[in-house]
Amino acid sequence: MTYDSALDAALQRLHDEGRYRTFIDVERERGNFPHAVRTKPDGSTQDVTIWCGNDYLGMGQHPAVLDAMHEAIDATGAGSGGTRNISGTTVYHKRLEAELADLHRKDAALLFTSAYIANDATLSTLPKLFPGLVILSDSLNHASMIEGIRRNGGDKRIFRHNDLDDLRAQLKAVPANVPKLIAFESIYSMDGDFAPIEAILDIADEYNALTYIDEVHAVGMYGPRGAGVAERDGLMGRIDIINGTLAKAYGVMGGYIAASAKMCDAIRSYAPGFIFTTSLPPAVAAGAAASVAHLKTDTELRKRHQDGAAALKLRLKGLGLPLIDHGSHIVPVHVGDPVKCKMLSDRLLDDHGIYVQPINFPTVPRGTERLRFTPSPVHGPDQVDALVNALDGLWSHCALNRAELAG
Ligand SMILES: Cc1ncc(COP(=O)(O)O)c(C=O)c1O
Repeated sequence: MTYDSALDAALQRLHDEGRYRTFIDVERERGNFPHAVRTKPDGSTQDVTIWCGNDYLGMGQHPAVLDAMHEAIDATGAGSGGTRNISGTTVYHKRLEAELADLHRKDAALLFTSAYIANDATLSTLPKLFPGLVILSDSLNHASMIEGIRRNGGDKRIFRHNDLDDLRAQLKAVPANVPKLIAFESIYSMDGDFAPIEAILDIADEYNALTYIDEVHAVGMYGPRGAGVAERDGLMGRIDIINGTLAKAYGVMGGYIAASAKMCDAIRSYAPGFIFTTSLPPAVAAGAAASVAHLKTDTELRKRHQDGAAALKLRLKGLGLPLIDHGSHIVPVHVGDPVKCKMLSDRLLDDHGIYVQPINFPTVPRGTERLRFTPSPVHGPDQVDALVNALDGLWSHCALNRAELAG
């Protein structure tokens, strides 16, 4: 065995399983999102519309965000130049953390370089703070939560997705005096379904468990000030730790947790993923703070986003396409076959300039392969028409099933 042949074997395994990923090379154009220019493998270019981005509200193009970033770069330069502890805490980081704490009505917030790192660093650190901690984790939690829970050395139990009976049964099996935490998401991004947040919090109260919610696919978009589904449902105050991203609806980059001052202080002090890495560039923090502040009041943008998603779903349902509809902003169209899913995505891109990445195993279970569309308030009527017509034609051409899945 040589090192090279080991790499060849590892890559070949992915090819054999149809899981090898090829990236589509796109360049977004300022002020013109969701339009982008694709550079093809042969170097030629093509105009495309992005239909699978997570810049859900187009905030990555918003003047308030861009102005704040330009101003910060001009004022302070590029990088922060250090970890938070060693010269990397700036007025921009402090301002953003204050903005986020206020958003979630918590005492404090803690910034990380991404929500992936926020989940991983926090969940892997909690057992150091609560010795013997048992984490009860929803079976469809994101890879970043799974990773943090897996390597924290603590005890973990996986409960069936959104299954309250299973959660309760698993909690019952943990002795009353053992510390417990329930980790779950508010919106699961591949199906777009919601967690039964209130019922989970009731069960947590009953068993004296802490709660950890990932609102990555909800912050900016749900709730009167964009703090997420828990805010929309009046439940934010009952959750111990809220995780969010600044990279999706807020259009920039970075992740965070919001919690009590003591919880944030402890994570800040014990989490290697917070301590031993350079803090976000000040301009990124400035852009994110501007975006969070803007979306606290722009309810109109949130409404247009939801209306756009509902309208697209209605049209796709009208064509009898197998839509997975749980009433969120995510529009997954079920294909159920990895080869067909990839073929549909290729045809949409090459023939229609519509960019939607196929979602195959292991991101979703085998047999549930899908195209996941993310309409934003800046997708115009012509772009929606082009998408609907292209899908209608391809569905007929490929003789695909038009039966509707249960929502
Ligand atoms: C549920 C969930 N949590 C966390 C993350 C990580 O977010 P970030 O892109 O900020 O690292 C993602 C990213 O897709 C996600 O889907």
